[in-house]
Amino acid sequence: MMNAIQVSEPGDISVLEYVQVEKPVVAPGKIVVKNAFSGVNFIDTYFRTGLYPTTMPTLLGREGSGTVAEVGEGVTDFKVGDKVAFLTANNSYAQYSLVDPTMVAHVPDSIGLDVAAAILLQGLTALTLTTRSYLVKKGDIILVHAAAGGTGRLLVQLCKYFGATVIGTTSTEEKALLAIESGADHIIYYNREDVPTRVREITGGRMVNAVFDGVGKATFQGSFDSLARCGTLVSFGNASGKVPPIEINMLSKGNITLLRPTLFFYITTRQEFTEASQEMFNLIEKGAIKFNICEVFELPRAADAHTFLESRKTTGKILISID
Ligand SMILES: NC(=O)c1ccc[n+]([C@@H]2O[C@H](COP(=O)([O-])OP(=O)(O)OC[C@H]3O[C@@H](n4cnc5c(N)ncnc54)[C@H](OP(=O)(O)O)[C@@H]3O)[C@@H](O)[C@H]2O)c1
Repeated sequence: MMNAIQVSEPGDISVLEYVQVEKPVVAPGKIVVKNAFSGVNFIDTYFRTGLYPTTMPTLLGREGSGTVAEVGEGVTDFKVGDKVAFLTANNSYAQYSLVDPTMVAHVPDSIGLDVAAAILLQGLTALTLTTRSYLVKKGDIILVHAAAGGTGRLLVQLCKYFGATVIGTTSTEEKALLAIESGADHIIYYNREDVPTRVREITGGRMVNAVFDGVGKATFQGSFDSLARCGTLVSFGNASGKVPPIEINMLSKGNITLLRPTLFFYITTRQEFTEASQEMFNLIEKGAIKFNICEVFELPRAADAHTFLESRKTTGKILISID
């Protein structure tokens, strides 16, 4: 048996149960990892609330780090004892995870298991959004919402690294300072300022080439109205709720490109995952992106981690530590 967080029905944080469940049994082509840390991501709250439906009861958690405990038949890239970080399907808030090696990376000795659990999901998201969804280029002006959040701070750093001017949105002055520290050139307080109006003022009427919008419902229209002709709206999350259905003809206003990407469809094969993670590790080595772990909760306190994330307190990564 092992300790894990389980959800038996969709709901608020009270549905996160700290329970004992069967320890996973290794299967051919898979590995079992003894977890040290699990990353906490907004997507975990979507599975908890039922915004993203899944079979119940379910475990939670899409990423983690630890040491390989068992190796299934046919797996050649990993051996027992290897230090790894991984992306997975809802099972990392647990002492052990059964993982598909497609999305597992070896962790170099220079990187701690805490950092390793913090970088894959948000790091690869920021990387693929800025290089696959919209290729950020020198001279671009980019709007990044929630620019002081976990993914937001990475997006700001990458857009700056690729040569863009960045306008970041945040809810408070404290968060604005963090977004500026990450490289944002301008800040809009989107809870009290009209975003398109401020974008028009800041850009002298040019507007932005692309918007990275993980806030969703509350910001979608303002993101759209902030775009220059032939601009790109990358809507990649629902922190404030799901974007309502749209009328496709709205895109003809300025020949707008609209994407709703998900990291997991950019890295479906071992090659895609390895290429993307190698690109990200190179960017880390060059100092282009720095990760910030803002809070660590113990496994039985997973509900506090969700409360923290949903109450807009994040300024980096939240982790769950696991014995
Ligand atoms: N598509 C993908 O593959 C993918 C992958 C990773 C993450 N995401 C998405 O990226 C977004 C950010 O995720 P994250 O884990 O990095 O979180 P985060 O940015 O650290 O936290 C979310 C931030 O959104 C802002 N926000 C605005 N309205 C909010 C509301 N009503 N409730 C809560 N937060 C609100 C808050 O910043 P302010 O206080 O400054 O407003 C908050 O700090 C999420 O929507 C997530 O689903 C998508």
